[in-house]
Amino acid sequence: MLRFSLPSLFLAASLPATAEINFRTQVLPVLGKACAECHKAPQKDSSGKVQNPKGGLRMDAPSHLLKGGSGGAGIEPGDPDKSLVYQRVLLPQEHEDAMPPKGKGKPLTFAETEIVKNWILEGAKFGDWKGSDAATTAATAPGSPAKRTADPLAAGVTEAPADVLKKIADLGAVVGPVSTDSKLLRIEFVANTSTITDKTVDLLKPLAGNITDLDLSNTKITDASMATIGTFTKLTRLSIGGTSVTDAGIASLKGLVNLDSLNAHSTQVSDAALATLQSLRKLKQVHFWKSRVSADGAKSLQKALPGSSVSID
Ligand code: HEC
Repeated sequence: MLRFSLPSLFLAASLPATAEINFRTQVLPVLGKACAECHKAPQKDSSGKVQNPKGGLRMDAPSHLLKGGSGGAGIEPGDPDKSLVYQRVLLPQEHEDAMPPKGKGKPLTFAETEIVKNWILEGAKFGDWKGSDAATTAATAPGSPAKRTADPLAAGVTEAPADVLKKIADLGAVVGPVSTDSKLLRIEFVANTSTITDKTVDLLKPLAGNITDLDLSNTKITDASMATIGTFTKLTRLSIGGTSVTDAGIASLKGLVNLDSLNAHSTQVSDAALATLQSLRKLKQVHFWKSRVSADGAKSLQKALPGSSVSID
């Protein structure tokens, strides 16, 4: 039996005989060695200060890599030119945006950048790699999913309506329980963020008692969404970086007494929002990089919230 048509035989002979690139065995070791140190979940350093991922970019799970940091998509499957993770490693070492930064590690070799490029071209598939999607790297950090199992927050939470979950997953949200048998939800909008608006957040209303972790960074939400989010009483972590949220939006959060982490980088939020945040006594991590919050403002908030870390860079 003739198994191959002539054209496909010809094609097979003219291409190098390489299998598809395997993320876990070929790409991950490169990123792990050269990048992970600065691009992982927030963690405490030896002095107890929380170190946030640089540029807001985490590389410890597929969703984080795809989403990227404050500059936009880290990886755009099929398009190396739009994948910041690839673009930054191509820059000459002298360039201020080069990764790893000059003097902070060996630049990738040509072979290594080719692996990253070809993996993106092949669709940036992660195979069975799930990474670690922990909220924080340090075991002692507050609010990590592992510690929430015995969390009083979980008491009395009812099952989230499946039709709502499906609807938002269809819009590109990553939705999941914070731990295996929890009804508390983590929701991250990682894909098509420019199509996520206040209308999308309206869809979350039936989940008001379930959402504990919400990532809306780089979406088109406005202060109107913040009024809705202000009713999510189980919320512990909120990311609104890169949105048009202002001080008025932050004022809507005044009832969120369980909030322990807020990422508001690259927003219009200013010192005028700090009074509201000071009243949220569980707040431990606040990130204001590229917002209008002043260094003095950040310092005074950190002082007002014992044990917290408030960063502006
Ligand atoms: C020593 C720490 C360090 C290492 C190692 C490092 N980076 Fe970075 N990275 C930074 C800092 C600091 C920033 C933020 C400042 C900037 O935008 O340049 C950043 C920003 C970035 C950004 C832009 C994020 C955004 O959306 O604004 C990308 C992409 C990036 N790094 C990729 C990489 C890659 C890929 C590697 C490994 C090859 C790497 N980095 C290694 C410190 C590091």
